[in-house]
Amino acid sequence: MSLKGKHIVLGISGGIAAYKSAYLLRLLIKQGAEVQVVITPNGKEFITPATLAALSGKPVVSEFFAANTGEWHSHVDLGLWADLMIVAPATASTIGKMANGIADNMLITTYLSAKEQVMVAPAMDLDMWAHPSTQRNVETLRRDGVIIVEPQSGFLASGLTGKGRMEEPEAILAAAERYFESCQRQTSLQGVKVLISAGPTYENIDPVRFIGNYSSGKMGFAIACECRRRGADVTVVAGPVDRSLTLDDGIRRVDVRSACEMLAAMQQEFASCDVAVLAAAVADYTPADPQKNKIKREANGDISLRIVRNPDIAATLGEHKGKKYLVGFALETDHEMENALGKMERKNLDMIVLNSLRDPGAGMMTDTNKVTIFKRDGEALTYPLKNKKDVASDIVDAFASGIGR
Ligand code: CTP
Repeated sequence: MSLKGKHIVLGISGGIAAYKSAYLLRLLIKQGAEVQVVITPNGKEFITPATLAALSGKPVVSEFFAANTGEWHSHVDLGLWADLMIVAPATASTIGKMANGIADNMLITTYLSAKEQVMVAPAMDLDMWAHPSTQRNVETLRRDGVIIVEPQSGFLASGLTGKGRMEEPEAILAAAERYFESCQRQTSLQGVKVLISAGPTYENIDPVRFIGNYSSGKMGFAIACECRRRGADVTVVAGPVDRSLTLDDGIRRVDVRSACEMLAAMQQEFASCDVAVLAAAVADYTPADPQKNKIKREANGDISLRIVRNPDIAATLGEHKGKKYLVGFALETDHEMENALGKMERKNLDMIVLNSLRDPGAGMMTDTNKVTIFKRDGEALTYPLKNKKDVASDIVDAFASGIGR
């Protein structure tokens, strides 16, 4: 990804890996970033500020005051300017100072004033990395929201393997790009109204019995949370989902029980949405004549229950789709692709997510899912088995691109 327009503070502390920072700096510049180097006094023992200034095109900051002019270097201004701070290499000592707020050099004061995300690439002797003190400090940084670029493996003095060598500059660049991509994703659905149906429906037979199915609502809820994370305005119409399921803050929830109630709620919300995701497992049939009183056991013989077709929510909404983007699901046991494509056509959907019950770990009652996505324009996307959160992200990626986000 291009880093054009991104402001990055590159903090360099005193480790042998500092020579790799020059290469990292070059990579960041090549991707279009503007980089300000901040180096510790020890860092200068390993790489000269002249090299770094030449590569970054900016004077390197190291002391609190510029030696020649006496001008004060403002770490506060750097914190406001930067979009990301990368400390590479981060020695055990620098990590310790960061974790404990020991602000005795410009790099640490810059860290303590940072408003931006901070990323640390540790570099040290493998035994030092393994020491509980270092691990404690790294844990503290993690808790403080710092991204740790895990060091590489090598051999300890004992002959066993351990970690400590700084990750390669290409991998640190990739971590920075991933961070900026995730920021971009976080706002990619801003201003988009997403309506999601989730869970099963229960069709009453009498006050104590119903026709239902095993849908938990996990997939629909995961999609709702993913949309919200990307800045969408989200409404969930939930059937009787698993009680342990919750939605993230800021998501509107409308609870319903039967298919007819779900249809009414969806129709009400549909007018104002941009995207509707029909993740509910709607009961196709409902008792023709639900009883007000509990049905008694007959003294002898069987009873029969007449069931009638429920409305097809997806197809009903599909008839008045306009410019809205409709996403449906298909849960199949056979002729999967043919059935899924048929449903997309019949219900006037723009995209359909196929789960095959023939795939172990897919469908209802699992934390995982394996899906294939078909789009109206003929695109087909296949994915491996993943947890439902990651599947939700794939599904949202697919329709986000469909609506040009
Ligand atoms: N759906 C719906 N209303 C229904 C039945 C299904 O809105 N009464 C939606 C589901 O939410 C899903 C899609 O239609 O997005 C396909 O659901 P599925 O149960 O697989 O399809 P059906 O049309 O019910 O076909 P069948 O049960 O015969 O496979």
